[in-house]
Amino acid sequence: MTVEVLADAEAVADAVAVRLLDRVAALQASGRREVHLALTGGTIATASYERVGALAPGREINWSGVHLWWSDERWVAADSDERNDHGARSGLGVVWEQARVHQMPADDGVNPDSGLDAAAADYDRELGETIFDICLLGLGPDGHIASLFPGHASERTPGRVIAVRQSPKPPPSRISLTLEVINNSVEVWFVATGAEKADAAARALNGDDALPSGRAHGSSRTNWWLDEAAAGHLDT
Ligand code: 6PG
Repeated sequence: MTVEVLADAEAVADAVAVRLLDRVAALQASGRREVHLALTGGTIATASYERVGALAPGREINWSGVHLWWSDERWVAADSDERNDHGARSGLGVVWEQARVHQMPADDGVNPDSGLDAAAADYDRELGETIFDICLLGLGPDGHIASLFPGHASERTPGRVIAVRQSPKPPPSRISLTLEVINNSVEVWFVATGAEKADAAARALNGDDALPSGRAHGSSRTNWWLDEAAAGHLDT
């Protein structure tokens, strides 16, 4: 596990973007034809996508061999700016245009409730046995990751891709990968900034298994990027 503490959110977004581009380039240089990345929502993840979009044109990466997946998505209309893929689409630029993008289904309004379960099942089928090279996760102040919330039904729902209802973080309905899939990732990357994340980050880094973030890890590596505010409760 690595923990990198940087001055502020901008520095975190830049560091994550540079490492992501380096990792994808290294995988392709090693002969890997297909690279699988799982993205998430949230402010610092979206800021990281903007940096990736800005830096990508200067890198020798074949984006047509890169698959973009999501670890969670809000169950809202496809054109809603509340969607997690909305921030990725606007920030990633040429990466979005050239990569193989596997968006989670959107609520088309026809079956707002039963459609959610069908959408989760559809994404499970699309995902198949895919193993992510990198699964990027934000961190909630309560220690949630993706749409897995501590003490909430989402933590106990069996399966690999699940429907989440009555989410403590709006909007209420979501689709989420479970830890079964997240922890199959070769690398899990956490990004968190702001003092409101300090307690959750410290608990997760101490392996507090009362939190979904405390139970998430890569099969090979787990990397954390924090700004100084979010690192404020770490044991020094
Ligand atoms: C979502 C995200 C969620 C997010 C964290 C951190 O759907 O909201 O997937 O898991 O990553 O809540 O969000 P912030 O970085 O905006 O605090």
